[in-house]
Amino acid sequence: QELELELEAIEKGGYEHFMLKEIHEQPRSIANCMRGRIYADEARINLGGISEYAVKLAQAKRIIIVSCGTSWHAGLVGEYLIEEYARIPVEVEYASEFRYRNPIISEEDVVIAISQSGETADTMAAIELAKKAGATILGICNVVGSSIPRLSHAGMYTHAGPEIGVASTKAFTAQVTALTLLSLYIARQRGTLPASKIATLLAQLQKTPQLIKECLKNEPLVKQIAYEIKDSTNCLFLGRGINFPVALEGALKLKEISYIHAEGYPAAEMKHGPIALIDEQMPVVVIATKDSSYDKIISNIQEVKARKGKITAIVTEGDTIISEIADYIIEIPLCEEALTPILATIPLQLLSYHIAVMRGCNVDQPRNLAKSVTVE
Ligand code: AGP
Repeated sequence: QELELELEAIEKGGYEHFMLKEIHEQPRSIANCMRGRIYADEARINLGGISEYAVKLAQAKRIIIVSCGTSWHAGLVGEYLIEEYARIPVEVEYASEFRYRNPIISEEDVVIAISQSGETADTMAAIELAKKAGATILGICNVVGSSIPRLSHAGMYTHAGPEIGVASTKAFTAQVTALTLLSLYIARQRGTLPASKIATLLAQLQKTPQLIKECLKNEPLVKQIAYEIKDSTNCLFLGRGINFPVALEGALKLKEISYIHAEGYPAAEMKHGPIALIDEQMPVVVIATKDSSYDKIISNIQEVKARKGKITAIVTEGDTIISEIADYIIEIPLCEEALTPILATIPLQLLSYHIAVMRGCNVDQPRNLAKSVTVE
């Protein structure tokens, strides 16, 4: 089956670019990531590659996530999920900073290394450093048999299939799915979440492939919005809570394939300076789904609107409030707050893809970038 995947990945499957093919593969890649791991009615998660270290994980005093780029954004989502559900303190570190910082690491720490390629030099160096200090290393990787799984004590593969486009898409949503499963797995071990809540979240997670298909149907609308944004020189992405890392990821996608300067920011932080950037030339993309910070994100959107920013809002379908304020809205299906990062990322992937195509950029191989940064 791996060979079939390889051969199929080599073909673009009728899509203009590998990146677009991989964006549209996400219903399947998420299903593959979950396959054999979820027993929703028993509120049970089966992570064979980690079970030997289940106790070590449950007793960890601290979890340190080390990764780079998009994988670092997945780590930030993981921080929200693990702290919320498993109640273990989590630190998310850029591997390239962690490895040179002389960090304090103990044998009670568990280090989670997230890497699509499993070959990123900075992440490998961070693992070596943590290993020397006696920490337990778990790898969350996509490429089977790559270096990082071999350096790790245990781990889980994301099973997203080969990702050819330099800009990571399906690997990111698979990493977030894996971290969601891991956070519930640890919560089960530690009894920090009632089995009924775990069962509900797992049942919702199992519906994600279908919900992603709903998100992909927005592509024609996203293309129209891409046309409005394509000539901008800057773009801001705003989010709150578990969707703040999604804003960072949306900004990175736009930067790396369309070469438009973009920045992801926590929406509530705008008033501490960056709101001075807003004028009618500044497109602002806001993740404003119906969740615990919904009322606050509305006032953040109003602050931007008052300064004539052009607002594209990612909203929960059926939202009638934000459509009155934003210039454009893109609806995604209603889901548990913990699952919004997977769905909210889809329109942002499509937005950056279509903007890059309209700008005539080399989407699959952006300038100066490599799929795996094996150098330091
Ligand atoms: C993401 O779109 C980039 N291609 C890049 O940031 C990537 O996520 C980063 O280099 C980490 O790669 P890895 O996941 O293979 O370790």
